[in-house]
Amino acid sequence: MFDALTRQPDDPLLALIGLFSKDERPGKVDLGVGVYRDETGRTPIFRAVKAAERRLLETQETKAYVGPEGDLVFLDHLWALVGGETVERSHVAGVQTPGGSGALRLAADLIHRMGGRKIWLGLPSWPNHAPIFKAAGLEIATYDFFDIPSQLVSFDNLVSALEGAAAGDAVLLHASCHNPTGGVLSEPQWMEIAALVAERGLLPLVDLAYQGFGRGLEQDVAGLRHLLTVVPEALVAVSCSKSFGLYRERTGAIFGVTTSSSSADTVRSNLAGLARTSYSMPPDHGAAVVRTILADPELARDWAEELEGMRLRMTGIRKMLAEGLRGRWQSLGAIAGQEGMFSMLPLAEAEVMRLRTDHGIYMPGSGRINIAGLKTAEVAGVIQKFTSL
Ligand SMILES: Cc1ncc(COP(=O)(O)O)c(C=O)c1O
Repeated sequence: MFDALTRQPDDPLLALIGLFSKDERPGKVDLGVGVYRDETGRTPIFRAVKAAERRLLETQETKAYVGPEGDLVFLDHLWALVGGETVERSHVAGVQTPGGSGALRLAADLIHRMGGRKIWLGLPSWPNHAPIFKAAGLEIATYDFFDIPSQLVSFDNLVSALEGAAAGDAVLLHASCHNPTGGVLSEPQWMEIAALVAERGLLPLVDLAYQGFGRGLEQDVAGLRHLLTVVPEALVAVSCSKSFGLYRERTGAIFGVTTSSSSADTVRSNLAGLARTSYSMPPDHGAAVVRTILADPELARDWAEELEGMRLRMTGIRKMLAEGLRGRWQSLGAIAGQEGMFSMLPLAEAEVMRLRTDHGIYMPGSGRINIAGLKTAEVAGVIQKFTSL
């Protein structure tokens, strides 16, 4: 039976990690990684996470199942962080998921179960979005979200896509820190999107994977919160991988924002049922850590402070890069105003390869760079290599 299968291509980003580790040149730089790195090149464990883990080790009394919905206290705290007071809590259905990916998959399965057929996706996007939606049986309609040469969000294309969508279609929106472009939607643009989504009867699926990495914990969800005050229904997929540094603990949640507590209960039961037929129950540890942090004002303050330090490191690197690169590409001044870990540089694939082979600077062929992959001391050297292209 296995002969009926064909070999699937390896993930190009994983292949890049292999190439980078084999490179023995001392000054090599990895701009391809998908995780936060600090000035020493490590992906740190937050101080508050370590403290919470110590506490859990001492106090946890059982490893019995948590149930398909996961940890309800975790869900309450996480929703407070994401949604604040914007929506009546009893109208919000929450289910804990294995990471943001699990949340997106449950959302896609739910849309499919509701009879939704199509989801609108702005390109470029996180490479796993389209495969997840396809695997759930959704049809994908795409539009160009970002213009790489000018480094600007193609807002007109987004508006045209929403205007062309049919009632009942879903639309994927990045809450902030767009992956892979770093492109920012302004407050008036969020207001326009919210009005259009409501007017056309579309279902927004908002992907929130980098809260705190862009403009700050509150600002990174301001557009989303505005949307939630305007549209009757929405899905919000949350990842704790970056914001809490819990990547491998697979921590996240899917929230369904509805118009009544009975509708929320129906959505919750469907999400839980979909989880049950997939992985049954989510892993506990990461959510227990997040719950412990958010339930303790001292730990929560320390976590937010460390997160803010990471954010400032990234905005500092962005500024240095933008100033240094402006000479070669005028448009790259824009990367200082972008947010989150990623930007997409206007590089031809041959230039990406030249940077790799001649200078040991690694990034995927698309030209996506992870700002956090750069240490301050490396910025001047990298700018010089870019300028010599
Ligand atoms: C935009 C976006 N959404 C969702 C995810 C999924 O995150 P997780 O690792 O929590 O599954 C990622 C991860 O990189 C992402 O960049």
